[in-house]
Amino acid sequence: MAILIKNGTLVTAAEQYQADLLIDGERITAQGSGLPVSADTQILNAAGKYVLPGGVDAHVHLDLPMFGTVSSDDHYTGTKAAAFGGTTTVIDFVSHDQRPLTACIEDLMEKAGPKAAVDFGFHMNITHWDDQVAKELPGLLSNGISSIKVFSAYNGRLRLQDGEIFQVLRKAGENGILTMLHAENGDVIDLLTSEIKAQGHTQPIWHARSHPNWGAVEAVLRGAALAAQAKAPLYIVHMNVAGEVDQLTYAREHGIKVLGETCPQYLFFSEEDLERPDGAKWVCSPPMRKKVDNARLWQGVMNGEIQVVATDHCPFFYDGTKPILFEGKPVAIPGKELGAGDFTKIPNGLPGVGDRLPILWTYGVGQGKISPSRFVDLCSTTPARIFGLYPRKGCLSPGSDADIVIWDPECQVKYGVQTAQHRTDYNLYEGWALQGMPETVFLRGKIIVQHNQWLGKPGMGKFLSRDPFSYQN
Ligand code: URP
Ligand code: ZN
Ligand code: ZN
Repeated sequence: MAILIKNGTLVTAAEQYQADLLIDGERITAQGSGLPVSADTQILNAAGKYVLPGGVDAHVHLDLPMFGTVSSDDHYTGTKAAAFGGTTTVIDFVSHDQRPLTACIEDLMEKAGPKAAVDFGFHMNITHWDDQVAKELPGLLSNGISSIKVFSAYNGRLRLQDGEIFQVLRKAGENGILTMLHAENGDVIDLLTSEIKAQGHTQPIWHARSHPNWGAVEAVLRGAALAAQAKAPLYIVHMNVAGEVDQLTYAREHGIKVLGETCPQYLFFSEEDLERPDGAKWVCSPPMRKKVDNARLWQGVMNGEIQVVATDHCPFFYDGTKPILFEGKPVAIPGKELGAGDFTKIPNGLPGVGDRLPILWTYGVGQGKISPSRFVDLCSTTPARIFGLYPRKGCLSPGSDADIVIWDPECQVKYGVQTAQHRTDYNLYEGWALQGMPETVFLRGKIIVQHNQWLGKPGMGKFLSRDPFSYQN
């Protein structure tokens, strides 16, 4: 049965205009006015509402083992939360171990496939480099993976050396694969961490103090310079420092193909939050910075220096000894309390996949910082383009997947853990007054959220085989 969304204001990355949208099966089939309908066409009146392409969150971690526990949203609970927040595509990361890349991919596919409730793709982490990995890398494309992540931090676990990052960039670039960089200085972090621990410091704020901002700044420039020498594109994940934006812009002005992502937490929070008694809630890597960094990141989001807002969603319970009710059942998963006496043992990561659109709408669009089109661009269209999903995702044109959000700009909520649907016991935006929320969310033509009611199911999300990197900026 076809569905006609009538009288809404369509928002694309370029413009907004009044038009109706026709959905047939999984796809958008027409856009315009006076569209032909049959007797059984279901009509939804979107008068006074915006009609947006579903959000694309290019950076989530679901069911990720860390520090003897696991991030508390799996591929069902995390994608359900995504849907409630208007996001219909997420891209998770495959952990890399000593086995062939395909075996690592299969593991994540086994976890995600039966559970995902929105569409999903994978990035491949590359955390060691040798001839075998080099040989396997081009084969990622035939597994539907066109992006990889490398780390200049997490020594002895995930980090690659600069020469290795250069080789990864070159091999990936030659094969239409985008390299993403976690940009920090692993050597300095390790040294400072052991000094700080020896001085007896235990509190969450020391997580930030052991990860200096200049390490991120120089790692962004280093990454960009390696990308230039490898003649390959680079995407900087979770930018949190003002100087990173400066380096990104410097590199881009010099013709280097480098792209940048930030996340809402880095726009709104600072080290002051880590100093609160419950500061562990804000512990993630890279850490919260200063208000001046928030302001510079906002500037980059507003003026186009930063291309993408993703979330780095990787939640843990604040107190994993106390169960919460999820879909009527008690759940408790060890979390931030593991680091009560030692900041280095606090699982790194935050909830956010469901918060991104509502928070950015109120505090970005609502406060006049960004237009509805820029909102769509940052949160849906540009991530779809960069990660080889456009125009299937991030687009409202005929032929695109009918991943659509009917957005109610008048809906007011007092936001928090009860509204957000993440499987965790806290929300960073607790008590914030929001205006503008998803009213109806479609995944490939099926309504999965309507007026706060969940109509989705585990396993209805499809794996997205992504195109090679071709983004022109
Ligand atoms: O603290 C975070 N963000 N954990 C996830 C891992 C990463 O580096 O993105
Ligand atoms: Zn990272
Ligand atoms: Zn991450």
